[in-house]
Order: sequence, then structure tokens, then C-alpha cells
Amino acid sequence: MRVTKLCQSKDIVTINGMFPGPVVYAQEDDRVIVRVTNETPHNATIHWHGVRQMLSCWSDGPAYITQCPIQAGQTFTYEFTMFKQKGTLLWHAHVSWLRGTVYGAIVVYPKTGVPYPFPHPYEEHILIFGEYWNKDLRKLEKQVLSSGGGAPPTNAYTINGHPGPRFNCSSNDVYRIQVVPGKRYLLRLIHAGLNMENFFSIANHKMTIVEADGEYTKPFTVDRVMLGPGQTLNVLVETDQPIGTYDMAMGPYMSARNVPFQNISAIARFQYDGATTNALAQPAQLPRFNDNLVVKKGMDGLRSLNATHLPLEIDTNLFFTIGLNVEQCHSSNPNKTCQGPNGGVFAASMNNVSFNRPAVSLLQAYYDKIQGHFTDDFPGVPLKVFDYVNGAPNNSPNDTQSLNGTRVFVVDYGARVQLVLQDTGTVTTENHPIHLHGYSFYVVGHGTGNYDPRTAKLNLVDPPYMNTIGVPVGGWAAIRFIADNPGVWFMHCHLEVHMSWGLAMAFIVKNGNGPLETLPHPPADLPKC
Ligand code: C2O
Repeated sequence: MRVTKLCQSKDIVTINGMFPGPVVYAQEDDRVIVRVTNETPHNATIHWHGVRQMLSCWSDGPAYITQCPIQAGQTFTYEFTMFKQKGTLLWHAHVSWLRGTVYGAIVVYPKTGVPYPFPHPYEEHILIFGEYWNKDLRKLEKQVLSSGGGAPPTNAYTINGHPGPRFNCSSNDVYRIQVVPGKRYLLRLIHAGLNMENFFSIANHKMTIVEADGEYTKPFTVDRVMLGPGQTLNVLVETDQPIGTYDMAMGPYMSARNVPFQNISAIARFQYDGATTNALAQPAQLPRFNDNLVVKKGMDGLRSLNATHLPLEIDTNLFFTIGLNVEQCHSSNPNKTCQGPNGGVFAASMNNVSFNRPAVSLLQAYYDKIQGHFTDDFPGVPLKVFDYVNGAPNNSPNDTQSLNGTRVFVVDYGARVQLVLQDTGTVTTENHPIHLHGYSFYVVGHGTGNYDPRTAKLNLVDPPYMNTIGVPVGGWAAIRFIADNPGVWFMHCHLEVHMSWGLAMAFIVKNGNGPLETLPHPPADLPKC
């Protein structure tokens, strides 16, 4: 589809000619069937982010993990159940950087007759945050992969595809929500951006968070929120202010020392009935771009309404370091022109293993026992302990080389898993929004510096149940889940450029013994590589 934004026209890939794409509406326990036909010349897949895909791993969507891409002209039908799930989630493309324009909302209502656990809103609205580039996204990805350098900063942030008035020729490209005074609104906030975490606030209005990543939370009232790519929040907003027009602003959260980024914000409007469109809007206050305290308070305040599946005991105890390094140019990166800092290349890794994309899908290779596409020796603890023992962030200029590989970690069916994610922050200091496919997990703890099991305080009462956790800059987060969904499940940083650098791994969760604990057969129309 041809779009003109910021005074430039370009072709973007869309679903059904819509940008953002169509909303997938469902009810809890509904069967969802989506036929995807690829009318572009390039590869495509769709991932249903946050849908736990109970026993439907083949429909998860990440390219080369659970399926081969849908090639030009091919059709693939995704089919899954919203098993015991409701709330706000998102779908997005999961190949190359295609999700930069191919994304949309998933709204799952409770079953008929089941009310929300909070006062019923007068109306609901969806706000999807995105990033917009004037350049072609495939070129951007290629540039990152071949140069070994960073991603160029985005040209604009967007809310529901609109940048708002602060950019080049965008004064009329503004999204508006029209509201009635004296009512309660539910806003479904979705972060579909590629490479940046963002703050969001509404001028003069408070937001009460009632759901995070599609799970109810204890109500928590704040002035501003921070979302990373892949995260969703439902917030209640009261229209209790004088009749007028109020800005809704979305701008960067970047606790960086030396990363180039644009300190710009997308603006949408929250407009009361009776307000004149041309009157000056009240400006929204965003936190300082590196305000870690706001982010920490936001994380501390998220509490599950009911933490019913929280494992109190652990069978599998894992510790993964997250490393983002500049490596010297060497033979294991022969395709790169080494234009990263100091003539090196960026490499990102978990437990020192930088993820290499396999040539067939890992799920297919696992299911059909095809040898040679992965090894099952992903380390449960870091290979090189000195990466983090000196205290995070550890800004050593030349980190040790990470290993390249397609390694998976195998988990027994039903295991109660605890995973501590430790950021080692060797070159930049930036949160990593880590996303796990196939599961939600309880975020039982987080903190700055190095994780220490003797002093770490864990919340084993009401931790939030999420699918993407922003691992704090130079800090850690501990998550727990029960491995009750067999399959191959990708885990990666949801900053797209970090995934390109290899910040990813996969779990294989083995079959259980019962018929309802066993992977189904692949669908007949599953694409081939
Ligand atoms: Cu939202 Cu693997 O992604």
C-alpha cells in the first residue's frame, strides 16, 4: 500500500490495506481462524503475541522457529484457541523487520455475562504505538546486518499510525479520541514499535492500570506509563477535567549513555465534546527520557489480581545473562563490513550464545527429527561467569567474543521453571524487553545490579503475569512459569535490532504422557522452506 507520511511517499506492507491492521476480536475460549495470503513478493508470517497457543505451537508464527515463511502467493491458515485468555494483546509479522508496518490489536472479551473486575467503562478505545521510517524496513535490516552497526533512529513515533503535529508536514496527521465529559473510558494501550521503549501520558488526566499483557492487575493509578515493544496495558481514564482538548504523548525511554536516538514524541488528542478543534491543546508531560525511577515504580506497582498458577517450588532453575557487546571484526562474522563502534560489530547474546537463524523451522526439525539444524546444549547458566560478576553495568570496551549457534534448552513437561535474566550491559545501557512465546510468566522480582539469591526479594504473593518483561538496565528480573505447553518456544529481546544481533534462544518443552499433553501434527498447509 502506498502511504504518504512526513512529506514522503513509499510502499508499505499491510494487511487488508489497513495500517495499523485490522483488529482481531474474540471472546475467551473462542477458536480463532485466520487465513493469511501473502500478496507481496517477500516472505511473511504472523505471530499472535501473548496468545499462549496451548497445544497449537504450529500457529505461533515466528519464522524459522515454528514455521517456514509464507512465500509470495502462498496461503497459511493460523488456528488457535484463546484458551483461558482475555484482554488486550497484539499480532505482528515475525520475519525480517516486517512488523514495522504489519501489526494490529487483539481484543479478547470475557465470556458472555462475565463482567470486567472493574467498573464498566462508558467506551473503549485502542491506542497502538509504533515507529515510522521513511526508509524501506528491509533496507534498514540489511544495513544493520551487513554493517555490524546500530539501527538508524526512527523518523517518527506514531499512535494508531499517526505521528501527530510535531514532525515534518504532519500537522494534520493526528489521531483523536472524542470523549464525553463525566465518563469512564477504557484505553487499550499496545506497543508495536520496533526498537524503542516509550513513555505515555495524557495531559491533566490520571490513568488507572487494570490489566497488563492481557492479565488483570490490582488497580494502580499513575500519571504516566512506560511500555516496551510487545507490552500491552489497559488503563481507565475519567473525563473529569474542564471541557477542552488534551494531548496524549508518547516519547522515548532510553537510559542510554551513548546510543543515538530521537528525543521526539508522537501526539494524539483526547478531545471533550464541546471543545473547539482549533483551540490550543493542553500539553502532556512525559518523564525525562532516562527517568529510571518512573519505570521502576511502574514495575513495582504491577500486581496480579489473582496469581493462581504461580509455582512456589522450582524444578528447573536457570540463569541467563543478556549481553550486548561490540566484538572485534573476525572470521565468524565474514559478511559484515564492521562499521560498528571502533571498527567492530555489535553482537548480542544470552549466556554468551548469539542466536543463528536455522535453515528450516526448529519445530519441524524437532518434530520430524531432522538432524543438523540445532543443538540441545543451550547452557542453563552463563558460560563465562566474569561477564557479570564485576557488577552490572559492566562497561568494558571489548567484551569477550560470544559464540554463534542455534542452541535450544530442553525442559521436561510440567517442570516449574524459574529463570533469572541478568543484563550485563557491556556497551550500552538500555532495558531489554524479553518476550517468551507460548507462555505468560510471573515476574517474581526485579532489581538493579547483580542478582544475588541471598538478598533478592521475591514477590510470591501477587506478582504480575506477563509475556514481555523489560529487564532493567544493568539489572535483573526473575520470572516463573510451569512448562505445561509442549512445543518449541522462542524467547528474545523485542527490540528488533537486538534480535537481529542474536539476542534470542529457544526452549523445547517435551511432551507429557497424556493425550492432551502431546504436540498435535503439523497442519497440511504448513509452508515449506
Ligand atoms: Cu512479539 Cu517473538 O514476538
